[in-house]
Amino acid sequence: MKRAFLAIAAAHLCATSLGAQAATATRGAFGALSDGTKVEAVTLTSSAGVSAKIMTLGATLQSLIVPDKAGHKDDVVLGYDTAQDYLTRPDYFGASVGRYANRIAKGKFSIDGKAFTLAANDGPNSLHGGKLGFDKRMWKIDSVSSGADAKVVMSYVSADGEEGFPGEMKVTATYSLNDQNELKLEYRATTSKPTVLNLTNHSYFNLSGNDTRDVMGNMVTLHAARFTPVDATLIPTGERRAVAGTVFDFATPHRVGDRIRDAKDQQIKFGRGYDHNFIVDGAAGSLRPAAVVQDPVSGRTMEMSVTAPGIQFYTGNFLDGTYFGKGNRAYRQGDAICLEPGVFPDSPNHADFPTSRLNPGQSYVNTIVYKFSAK
Ligand code: BGC
Repeated sequence: MKRAFLAIAAAHLCATSLGAQAATATRGAFGALSDGTKVEAVTLTSSAGVSAKIMTLGATLQSLIVPDKAGHKDDVVLGYDTAQDYLTRPDYFGASVGRYANRIAKGKFSIDGKAFTLAANDGPNSLHGGKLGFDKRMWKIDSVSSGADAKVVMSYVSADGEEGFPGEMKVTATYSLNDQNELKLEYRATTSKPTVLNLTNHSYFNLSGNDTRDVMGNMVTLHAARFTPVDATLIPTGERRAVAGTVFDFATPHRVGDRIRDAKDQQIKFGRGYDHNFIVDGAAGSLRPAAVVQDPVSGRTMEMSVTAPGIQFYTGNFLDGTYFGKGNRAYRQGDAICLEPGVFPDSPNHADFPTSRLNPGQSYVNTIVYKFSAK
């Protein structure tokens, strides 16, 4: 009898603590654009102290609060306080980027012999989906749920021909957060006609919290034995170059700033620092470790696992102090690290790169897991 009571009490305790530990999702207003369009946001909060706010404009990770080694919680992603700023001073802060994240040479590609032309919005090339890419579109909230994973599903339907790309494309972005402080992001898409795509998230991470220091002292590990060198307009030459013995070797942790000024390496000159696609070791399609970023001062660590074949490592080289972000801070060169998992840049024009093509009847999936800890 007594034993049965104890068992019931233990079960009750367990259920209560499990309940208390569940991650929560809350939906609310996030102001309006200057044309009156209402923007909403969903905040996912783990019981272990991480909280991610995702807004419907661009399915954007607008803030990401992570505790440091002393338990102080700070925002570790760059961005703006208001939704309109993301359109007025756009730089893909935290955004879901598409249809084609990264560059397509001269904005031109062909599918089955048919030529397509995109807007050239980055010198001669197309960048991040064109003038009005997915980052500048309003996404719909499909579902919001709390539990072991707090989750929001957002969707966007891109019309056939939008920004020059063929096929109507239906896209979802699912963000989920668990109590192990893993933020998982899954992009899915289908198309009505053969097309090309590369969906990714363009968060600018600064693990100091509230951007109090630049990222030059961050330690970065990239699980990538090779990268794809670029020309002066940042289009891959087609080569897959070994990183060993170069300033691109992050197989073991290196300070970002240690070799970033090594202009003996022409690739550093072209990128004004790191702005390159690394080929993630292991089999694309399976979730595997890609990158680790560690801030020795705050103790925060971010570990990223990806299914994508590549990851763009960009050190905020084009931030020039003219954009004022959250808390009215000027964003300057080297203030953030972007790690953008996807296919390689300009894949539609490189037959031997992993394919960026999607056919009707196929499902595209790109999964990214960011795990946060501090010590
Ligand atoms: C590109 C950079 C670009 C930045 C912001 C990154 O993905 O690689 O060259 O400046 O996005 O647009």
